[in-house]
Amino acid sequence: MAVRLFEDKDHAAKYLKYRVTPNEVVSEIMGLLKKRMPLPGKLAVDVGCGSGQGTVLLAPYFTQVIGTDISPAQLENAQVNQKCDNVSYRQCPAEELPLESGSVDLVTSMTAAHWFDRPRFLEEAGRVLRGGGCLVLLSYAMDMYLEYGDVTEKLKQVCKEVRTVLHTCI
Ligand SMILES: C[S@@+](CC[C@H](N)C(=O)[O-])C[C@H]1O[C@@H](n2cnc3c(N)ncnc32)[C@H](O)[C@@H]1O
Repeated sequence: MAVRLFEDKDHAAKYLKYRVTPNEVVSEIMGLLKKRMPLPGKLAVDVGCGSGQGTVLLAPYFTQVIGTDISPAQLENAQVNQKCDNVSYRQCPAEELPLESGSVDLVTSMTAAHWFDRPRFLEEAGRVLRGGGCLVLLSYAMDMYLEYGDVTEKLKQVCKEVRTVLHTCI
């Protein structure tokens, strides 16, 4: 089930002010992505983009970047925060993206997917991604499991392995 937070204007303003910009992790991810697909790509979508601090970091790597969020207050701040001509924003639930099937090179969700209805979001990400496209989930939530079609057990195993590796790094 999706959880609705971050929605009022005051909360959104504080989020814009205090959210740490995920520069290093995004550039690390782009380094890995370069090995999987030619960059710049055509279209990246940042789902649950909030005030867009992570969304704008994708701009140098794609012709077009779309940030989506359920919260009008967050998106209002994202527009103010916007510094890139190729970045735009849309209000919609993560589980219903207003995008053509197979049209997206990269779907990201930065510290947001733990709030979504994850089975529905993963189906939707799978729908909009082109073959060979990539889904990147950044999260603080270490105990997140992913359910997706008949690969749920495999995904759970991957999540477990990621947690084990992270635990050995700290
Ligand atoms: C913790 S904030 C992360 C914002 C941004 N990605 C960042 O890294 O700063 C989570 C965001 O997810 C959005 N959100 C939560 N549930 C959602 C849903 N079901 N669909 C779309 N956005 C959602 C919230 O409105 C909020 O802006």
